[in-house]
Amino acid sequence: MTALPQKVAVIGGGDIGCGWAALCASAGWPVTVFDSNASGLERAATDVPRRTRALVALERATSGIVERGLKEFTQARSLLQAVQDADWVIEAIPEDMIAKQKVFGSIEQVARADALLTSSSSGIPPADIFARCRRQDRCLVTHPLNPPELIPLVEVVPAARTSAAAVVQAQEWLRALGRMPILLKKPIPGYVVGRIAAAVWRQCIDLVLDGAIDVDQLDRAVSLGPALGWAAAGPHLTYHLAAGDGGVTLFVQQLLASFEGWWGQLATWQRLEPEQQRALTQSIERAYKSNIEQLREARDRRLGAILRALEQARTT
Ligand SMILES: NC(=O)c1ccc[n+]([C@@H]2O[C@H](COP(=O)([O-])OP(=O)(O)OC[C@H]3O[C@@H](n4cnc5c(N)ncnc54)[C@H](O)[C@@H]3O)[C@@H](O)[C@H]2O)c1
Repeated sequence: MTALPQKVAVIGGGDIGCGWAALCASAGWPVTVFDSNASGLERAATDVPRRTRALVALERATSGIVERGLKEFTQARSLLQAVQDADWVIEAIPEDMIAKQKVFGSIEQVARADALLTSSSSGIPPADIFARCRRQDRCLVTHPLNPPELIPLVEVVPAARTSAAAVVQAQEWLRALGRMPILLKKPIPGYVVGRIAAAVWRQCIDLVLDGAIDVDQLDRAVSLGPALGWAAAGPHLTYHLAAGDGGVTLFVQQLLASFEGWWGQLATWQRLEPEQQRALTQSIERAYKSNIEQLREARDRRLGAILRALEQARTT
């Protein structure tokens, strides 16, 4: 295994950047955050320690290591200060291709020659993100799920010119942070997770707007239905186990025709008109009246419990 990074620089101190920084600090790694907006940097100064310490309460980190990591958590006053001595630069600025191209153009000029450069993009092809970099061999996407300090899955999406060594290094460092990297074989827009999320969400929105079900009931149908099953076995294994000893061969014989009938009726729209957007957001806000912080804390408690249960099931 390659040495662990001596310093990580996170560029962009929003939801995702603070999550990456909390994750690094929780592992005792020195991490610095740079945000081009002064209020973003101020928010990171309080958000990162809060989110890092919350991991102790959720039994995802130990207090001693967290406090050691937080002693070495800093906010950089410039991109140069953040990046110049970092082994790993994690970009987490908004999902805007031109902005990402510009920031990587600047990062490349000040980063060490052997630094790994990764983007947190949710779906922009890596060849576009790194288009302005002269050296793309050390550049790739490592797409986390929200919140990055809790959900272990990270999509690793190399560009055609990314070196095999950079892909290995990224995966090793992610594993050292307790992440579970999955490697994409093709850099498709939306990657894999975004495409699955977009397909499921379109169907969920359609059912709500069509009046088939209310938001809270729909969310329960997903969380306690397919998503609960998928947490234990992905969709293909689920169906392999759904037709007795006959496995997926029997399942396909017995149920594919039903699925084909439903596929023919699923929503295929590609835009939500302003009126539909209003109806959707109103329905969601009516269903969830508590403030966002309370909702997020409760969600994180459930995530912590699910992760602990899955880990226990793996070791018994
Ligand atoms: N929010 C999610 O659920 C989620 C999940 C996975 C991946 N992502 C991806 O992560 C990235 C960041 O998303 P987010 O939700 O944290 O965004 P955000 O808007 O919450 O935060 C972005 C931060 O970047 C700062 N910023 C903007 N331009 C900058 C620059 N040039 N240099 C330094 N800082 C700059 C902004 O001030 C802001 O604080 C996006 O690419 C997004 O698609 C988001």
